Amino acid sequence: SSAKMVKICCIGAGYVGGPTMAVIALKCPSIEVAVVDIAVSRIAAWNSDQLPIYEPGLDDVVKSCRGKNLFFSTDVEKHVAEADIIFVSVNTPTKTRGLGAGKAADLTYWESAARMIADVSKSDKIVVEKSTVPVKTAEAIEKILTHNSKGIKYQILSNPEFLAEGTAIDDLFAPDRVLIGGRETPEGQKAIQALKSVYANWVPEERIICTNLWSAELSKLAANAFLAQRISSVNAMSALCEATGADVAEVSHAVGKDSRIGPKFLNASVGFGGSCFQKDILNLVYICECNGLPEVANYWKQVIKVNDYQKSRFVNRIVSSMFNTVSGKKIAILGFAFKKDTGDTRETPAIDVCKGLLGDKARLSIYDPQVTEDQIQRDLSMNKFDWDHPLHLQPMSPSSVKQVSVEWDAYAAAKGAHGLCILTEWDEFKKLDYRRIYESMPKPAFVFDGRNVVNAAELREIGFVVYAIGKPLDSWLKDMPAVA
Ligand code: UDX
Ligand code: UDX
Ligand code: ADP
Repeated sequence: SSAKMVKICCIGAGYVGGPTMAVIALKCPSIEVAVVDIAVSRIAAWNSDQLPIYEPGLDDVVKSCRGKNLFFSTDVEKHVAEADIIFVSVNTPTKTRGLGAGKAADLTYWESAARMIADVSKSDKIVVEKSTVPVKTAEAIEKILTHNSKGIKYQILSNPEFLAEGTAIDDLFAPDRVLIGGRETPEGQKAIQALKSVYANWVPEERIICTNLWSAELSKLAANAFLAQRISSVNAMSALCEATGADVAEVSHAVGKDSRIGPKFLNASVGFGGSCFQKDILNLVYICECNGLPEVANYWKQVIKVNDYQKSRFVNRIVSSMFNTVSGKKIAILGFAFKKDTGDTRETPAIDVCKGLLGDKARLSIYDPQVTEDQIQRDLSMNKFDWDHPLHLQPMSPSSVKQVSVEWDAYAAAKGAHGLCILTEWDEFKKLDYRRIYESMPKPAFVFDGRNVVNAAELREIGFVVYAIGKPLDSWLKDMPAVA
């Protein structure tokens, strides 16, 4: 009946599931939301004062709903059985072996979640794809559910999440759009309306877009590919700027003023990172190949290649400006997360840059305000799957990991270092006392700004040799051309 309280269950309490469900609970007091996960420690953290992810504003949202209409639990089956709407937000990493290794999405977690839903359900369910998955996953999930249905009716929806880490709460409060894809049958349309009415509690109607299943699934991959492509485009320009004396910030500003292009997402950087861009593009590439579209596949592959090029270019610039060797030299790394305001290091460009420097036998002292020492050591010792990645073809030996120390602040990291590399755009790096840092470093002292956060003119005034992505080069750097 309509008086019955709607129950939502989300499988997967990660970077997407956690914040999304917390905001649904906050905005829909009449809905009961349970977030479940098989990871016991993760659920314990969601129930504690120390949430498992750092996200501005998240603590307040969780505190105001937890225990009222928001629950975190490891009792997956109970909450799935009770729910009317089940969001699936489990991880979908890139396959590391077998067919499609290095490109295709690994749907193991998805499939086991779907089989579990089929096992425990006793009433009709709406099952919502929340994590990015390859186009036509919904069809596979539908098959698993209906072949094991015991007479229960399932409706599959695709409702991809567009939040960005670091701004997740703002993005969820005021999304550019909410996208819901479903079957074009009457039952499918009814399910779309049910999910739409959840979002309608705070999202204006005209921002809720309803499409067919495949359009919704593909739009998510397309949006991430377009966003990543903008960054690779501006990063490709940054190399040309350095070669010609143009300033990439001036070029971005001028280009972005064209309303057809727009000003956002045009910041040149050491490269994009994060759990989505590379994974989703690889996935898109794989889907194109499977559909006999190699030209389209190659087009998108290039976005990743330029990103890899940008990271190796940065490492080469560091090495070449320090007389072609960093062997035994201490280099400070400021920032390890893939962007500011998150502690997430998945696919962070810092991993490739650090491995590149360690490959040249540098000693690294790393500081990031939100990433733990444990995480950094894990990321640098991991020999992850390589797909056209020139930088991490070499697994890190235990001895090179010993060349890494993690510090508590930027000054400690910089002390005695020949160079300072800024790899994440944390606000605090803009306000450091660079004169004090300069005094504590051997000379010549270098700054390599991978995020264009420092005032290069001021730093040069102090005495630093400064390299900033896409900016006119110091005479020092002009004399020591990098071989990319
Ligand atoms: C991205 C999408 O923005 C989001 O819509 C989707 O749901 C998930 O993937 P996220 O990866 O969390 O979000 O962060 P985002 O802000 O997109 O940044 C991704 C990477 O691009 C970061 O490494 C960031 O530093 C880099 N970036 C971003 C640039 O180098 N330049 C820019 O102008 C913008
Ligand atoms: C372009 C630039 O827009 C303009 O700023 C510059 O000064 C000169 O080059 P123009 O070539 O006159 O202008 O027309 P434009 O509207 O940009 O269209 C170029 C081509 O792209 C046309 O063939 C158009 O049909 C095509 N196009 C445009 C598309 O196929 N899809 C679109 O979404 C937009
Ligand atoms: P995302 O960034 O997409 O949110 P995360 O890796 O942060 O991805 O979160 C995915 C979560 O899904 C993990 O906490 C993982 O333990 C959980 N998970 C994976 N498979 C299952 C499953 N079958 N049942 C419950 N939780 C699962």
